[in-house]
Amino acid sequence: MHPTARLAVRSGLRFQSAATAGIARLSRFQPSTLPRVVVRYSSTGGSPQYEFIQVTEPRPGVGQITLNRPKALNALSTPLITELNSALSTFQSSPTTSVILLTGSEKAFAAGADIKEMAPLTFSHAYLTSFIESWSNLTTSLKKPLIAAVSGHALGGGCELALMADILYCTKTANFGQPEIKLGTIPGAGGSQRLTRAVGKAKAMELILTGKSFSGEEAERWGAAARAFGTYEELMEGSLKTAEVIAGYSKVAVQAAKEVVNKSQDLGLRDGVEFERRVFHALFGSEDQKIGMGAFAEKRKAEWKHQ
Ligand code: CAA
Repeated sequence: MHPTARLAVRSGLRFQSAATAGIARLSRFQPSTLPRVVVRYSSTGGSPQYEFIQVTEPRPGVGQITLNRPKALNALSTPLITELNSALSTFQSSPTTSVILLTGSEKAFAAGADIKEMAPLTFSHAYLTSFIESWSNLTTSLKKPLIAAVSGHALGGGCELALMADILYCTKTANFGQPEIKLGTIPGAGGSQRLTRAVGKAKAMELILTGKSFSGEEAERWGAAARAFGTYEELMEGSLKTAEVIAGYSKVAVQAAKEVVNKSQDLGLRDGVEFERRVFHALFGSEDQKIGMGAFAEKRKAEWKHQ
């Protein structure tokens, strides 16, 4: 079985045999009214070809996922999210990928959850199918760092998706916002929690209650984005450079660093510092800690073993 198909089976997604069918269809978690995701495999067993995303490896150790549903400004439909989760899980298990870059187009990172898909949903259907829960796979199962490069619209679920990333970069003119209130609803993919943690209660409450947009420049100033770039080209180049820097470090240390920083969002200070110290102690058991500190003492470049 193709490794991606095996992986998806392990993660709960059901594929036909890619080898025999040539085409694998994801069928679970998709209400029958929704379009099915078709993941095609090349006859040579190469990378899967997706319908709503593009997957590339632009630099050594860097896997890039580009949301690619231009006619709907990358609106996040269930099939798109299913493909995104499949690609993330493939990069997560790939020994050659250290960092993942998630981006959209210059015009839109993502204009939100798919309003046309959501419009007819009922409470019982959303509740019983745990609608939108699969979006959280990104935050719960991804151990490798994720950089979001945001240009254009990042609204509703698009803003929430960007806020799930470990590092958020954007253009100064990016258009962030949680406009759900204008649709008679509220953020549903973590916006009320992550935006509030990122910019503070006062600003988050104003933004969520009014549905007002905020710019990339403001996102950087308020601490939601790590950096805001002048142009789209600078954003992409800056994001790739940061990804390459991180990909150049010990995978063990990088995973541990991501884990401890993320814990700060869930734990109080005392427990968080205790957790950090435990992980710090654990790293004395890694080869890369010996390699890194030895290389410093001997004034040479560290050659990581990722052990
Ligand atoms: N869902 C589905 N389709 C969308 C969409 C969305 N979120 N956003 C845009 N589109 C579609 C439009 O319907 C349109 O399709 P058609 O050509 O078939 O009519 C196409 O994308 C282009 O959009 P516009 O013509 O509206 O483009 P514009 O440049 O005039 O405006 C925009 C751009 C301001 C982003 C506008 O499209 C817009 O306001 N979109 C909706 C933004 C929004 O409300 N997002 C929140 C969704 S709810 C949510 O995300 C819930 C959650 O928390 C998970």
